[in-house]
Amino acid sequence: MSSPRKILMTCALPYANGYIHLGHLVEYLQADFWARFQSMRGNECIYICADDTHGTPIMVKARELGITPEQLIAQSFKEHTADFADFQIEFSHYGSTNSPENKSLIEFFYQKMVEGGHTRTQAIKQLYCNHDKMFLPDRFVKGTCPKCGSKDQYGDSCDVCGSTYSPSDMKDVQCSMCGSTPVLKDSESIFFKLNDFKKYLEEWIPQHCAPEVSKKMLEWFNEDLHDLDISRDEPYFGFPIPGTNGKKFFYVWVDAPMGYMSATEQWAKARGKTLKDIWQDPNREVYHFIGKDIARFHTIFWPAFLKAAEFRSPDQVFVHGHLMVNGEKMSKSKGTFIAARTYLNHLNPEHLRYYYSTKLSSSVDDIDLNLEDFVNRVNSELVGKITNLGSRGGQMLKKKMDGVMSTPDAEGQKLISHAQGKADVIAEHYENRDFAKALTEIRSLADDANKYFDEKAPWKTLEADAVGTKQVITTTLNIFRMLAIYLKPVLPHYTAKVAALLGEKDYMWSDLNTVLTNRSINDYEHLATRVEGDKVKAMVEESRQINEAIQAAKKATSTAPTKAAVDTKADKSAEALAKEEIEFADFEKVELRIGQVVEAEEIKEADKLLRLKVDIGNGEIRQIIAGIKSAYSPEKLLGRKLLVCVNLKPRKMKFGMSEGMVLAAGSGGSDLFVLSADEGAQVGQRVK
Ligand code: MSP
Ligand code: ZN
Repeated sequence: MSSPRKILMTCALPYANGYIHLGHLVEYLQADFWARFQSMRGNECIYICADDTHGTPIMVKARELGITPEQLIAQSFKEHTADFADFQIEFSHYGSTNSPENKSLIEFFYQKMVEGGHTRTQAIKQLYCNHDKMFLPDRFVKGTCPKCGSKDQYGDSCDVCGSTYSPSDMKDVQCSMCGSTPVLKDSESIFFKLNDFKKYLEEWIPQHCAPEVSKKMLEWFNEDLHDLDISRDEPYFGFPIPGTNGKKFFYVWVDAPMGYMSATEQWAKARGKTLKDIWQDPNREVYHFIGKDIARFHTIFWPAFLKAAEFRSPDQVFVHGHLMVNGEKMSKSKGTFIAARTYLNHLNPEHLRYYYSTKLSSSVDDIDLNLEDFVNRVNSELVGKITNLGSRGGQMLKKKMDGVMSTPDAEGQKLISHAQGKADVIAEHYENRDFAKALTEIRSLADDANKYFDEKAPWKTLEADAVGTKQVITTTLNIFRMLAIYLKPVLPHYTAKVAALLGEKDYMWSDLNTVLTNRSINDYEHLATRVEGDKVKAMVEESRQINEAIQAAKKATSTAPTKAAVDTKADKSAEALAKEEIEFADFEKVELRIGQVVEAEEIKEADKLLRLKVDIGNGEIRQIIAGIKSAYSPEKLLGRKLLVCVNLKPRKMKFGMSEGMVLAAGSGGSDLFVLSADEGAQVGQRVK
């Protein structure tokens, strides 16, 4: 036997400002299949991931939610890890890029870059928002596409015509957060001289990713490579760049891939080892699983950083395609942009694991989740073909006979040997990440076994030939057992239940070599249920409703609605809908008081806004900007006693600070009702 391999594998680190959706799961599930396969083979496989926590979107989203970035990333960490666990994705360690290990690591990388002469500084002009007091990344700029004239496009590319450009080429640029016109401002940037590594990368790339990916990446090499701006000006949520007095921060894409190493370091430390023990171990294979949208970061920038810091590079970067749903890009309005949690609210995680496994290959082709096909395949294959073998065989043996297997006859033994003989082919498909091919082999074995069972019709021979009947059942159960072993990377819980049925411990690949004889089995426990089409519909409907709530939030947004701001609100509503319960202690944090409107005026420039001055007791007057103009004239509110949330973090809006919130019910527009207190209620009173 060859000695066990040592493997370190990673998945891309999901952004901490978003929720996990079915698109993400294409990656985390395939990597989980692969990791579990490796462990079953007796290899030491460390499966690492972490949250990607830095950058402008996270800073801005936290600001919008009125929490600190640290609170936001703590919340996401909880949600992401719960989603992964519920999909039976088992990381060896799940970290965060906002860790002390990651900070030391990037400082080390940076020092090496500087020492090697691979950095330079240069003043560049960038768009700056005077109102938000920050430089604007392309995604925070919107305007009219310079090519096709479509309005409301992002600063880097047009959704309508697909062209890419720089934000300064756009007409009528606006800050996507506040709507004001940004100015061009000079700032000194620090660049990583990517070109120093051009030759190295030209050789490296074809050896470390699939030809189709390599070909695409090498297209950038016809000219000089652009140096990478690795610095961002404050305010920025990230690690400060040493020697810049806290004024400059590392660009998120510099510290993000280092998260692979720092999370590995945490894993290592917990086991009395160091990062170098793992990462620099010449006998360890290192692999990254990523989606095609981030191939450039992983096959050009990342190996160059590693080279600069004199670390080994990964052995392979495995690049997958994107998820389509019903043959199209996931769509929020159609309800096919499905959060992992929304799926879990309606359906069984093993069903998605199974379905993806029948679709996944090692190519970068997109994969399609066709919801009708999903229902059909799970029901006809996993339940109809595979599980049926175990349930029919197991229940007959247990209920109609004494529950003890015998030995297969010669014909049965032949079938069993045939199934065992597929071990190498199936292993090879798993090893090559050709999961769909592995599943085709497994299904074909299930077909053979079903044919055998139906031909032998043991339910008919039970009385006339008990011995022969038992042999047939013994054969069937043995094949079923092998199918379960073959499926373990994909359906670990399912396989564990099969092992329990047969009174065995969890399987390794080598357990395929044994044939069970004369063994008494346990009571048959339910292994798999059918997918009901209605539940799929309900899941899509829930996703659609979440999106509608997002749209409503967008309408209610007081300032010019923008993609960045709306996406943030969208997430907020999605979170609100997805989370059904809060703790009483959470509710208690909301401080409601009775306030009296002492001034009210409309804000002429805004469709929906009134400016209120509200007395909240103890002589404290708050300015509240409320989006209720379409339902109330200022006169109607003057003097009224309303319910006010007084401990909402003040929000800077286009028309001034808003220092609280007036509670109102209704769907928006004229359908809005402020919640008011009786005439006699005392201003400033806390609402219990
Ligand atoms: N934070 C970066 C990765 C940093 S790695 C050092 C990022 N995060 S992400 O949340 O946007 O995506 C995480 C992974 O999920 C990426 O590999 C991405 O390709 C993958 N997917 C995100 N949406 C996807 C689909 N719709 N379909 C398939 N994979 C997708 O990128
Ligand atoms: Zn702004």
